[in-house]
Amino acid sequence: MLVLGIETTCDETAAAVVERSGDGRGKILSNIVLSQDSEHAAFGGVVPEIAARAHVEALDLIIAKAMAQAGCGYFALDGVAAAAGPGLIGGVIVGLMTAKAIALVERKPLIAVNHLEAHALTARLTDATSFPYCLFLASGGHTQIVAVRGVGDYVRLGTTVDDAIGEAFDKTAKLLGLGYPGGPLVEKEAAHGNAARFSLPRPMQGRKDADFSLSGLKTALRLEAEKIAPLSDQDVADLCASFQQAVVDVVIDRLRAGLRLFRARYGAPTALVAAGGVAANQAVRNVLQRLAVEVGTALVVPPLELCTDNGAMIAWAGCERLTLGMVDTLDVMPRARWPLDNVAAAKGKLQRTAAYK
Ligand code: KG4
Ligand code: ZN
Repeated sequence: MLVLGIETTCDETAAAVVERSGDGRGKILSNIVLSQDSEHAAFGGVVPEIAARAHVEALDLIIAKAMAQAGCGYFALDGVAAAAGPGLIGGVIVGLMTAKAIALVERKPLIAVNHLEAHALTARLTDATSFPYCLFLASGGHTQIVAVRGVGDYVRLGTTVDDAIGEAFDKTAKLLGLGYPGGPLVEKEAAHGNAARFSLPRPMQGRKDADFSLSGLKTALRLEAEKIAPLSDQDVADLCASFQQAVVDVVIDRLRAGLRLFRARYGAPTALVAAGGVAANQAVRNVLQRLAVEVGTALVVPPLELCTDNGAMIAWAGCERLTLGMVDTLDVMPRARWPLDNVAAAKGKLQRTAAYK
């Protein structure tokens, strides 16, 4: 089975071809990612309008490259998958419409993939992880703990009530004048900083649920920085180290709660799986390893280029869905919001319905 996957929900224009063999194993034939980082750097974050335009300009070429590198013609594809949300709607439209055009012209099934589902299923592409497993997804746009029970069967155990973890790293970097994207820059500074110098809060710590809150931490950091301004290089390093330590402590506590919820409802997970750009952070990886040992499960951290946004994860999710006959019609809509969790999705629908009454 050969599937083309297209990803345009944020600031990466990406396309890939993935092959799924009869035994269920996946193989990446091509995986082309064009990052728009430089176009957004001046603004310290992703500008939706700039992102959408950049996707329009680049996507055709990125798909052509992915097809050429995979060495297959469109006729050889078994399906065309695109991330249909959640994400910045301009970009989502570009990717989904392109996929629809290819599917229509080549008479191939279309698979509208939830971007979060693609992150969730990546561990099955890289490590053939079996269900059910516990996913920790931490990126610039999402912070979630999810019970992955099967294809299309996800239960959100925890989420952030405000900022995503990656977003908190990015905002910290912006505040300290480090640049964008902030995660790697904050981590680099933290390496030679004193994590004990500033006492920052650990929001939500000790709660029974598995939710996160990051915005208070960010504000506390700003107040500490303002108190000692102007900042020396060592001040910046110490602030970064203190911030990163607070995040790590929060991740341990919230994931521990998430894993407890998982075990109570579904028994032991086959693995703790990490996804999203924040999984690149070594301090975060260390605590994930510690937690996995603590609960006696395997830790699966896909290679970094598959943790961050890419086309291979969309193509793979397409393979998984196509195998089960879960295909979409050409009138499927792009979605800015699209909860992964069926219950959460239903709740959202009810709330929307209520709002119209
Ligand atoms: O998954 P991703 O590439 O894109 C989405 O947001 O979907 O994640 C990017 C996020 C950014 O917020 C970036 O600052 C963060 O992941 N990040 C990191 C590190 N590398 C990337 N955060 C902390 N430490 C890092 N080393
Ligand atoms: Zn993502």
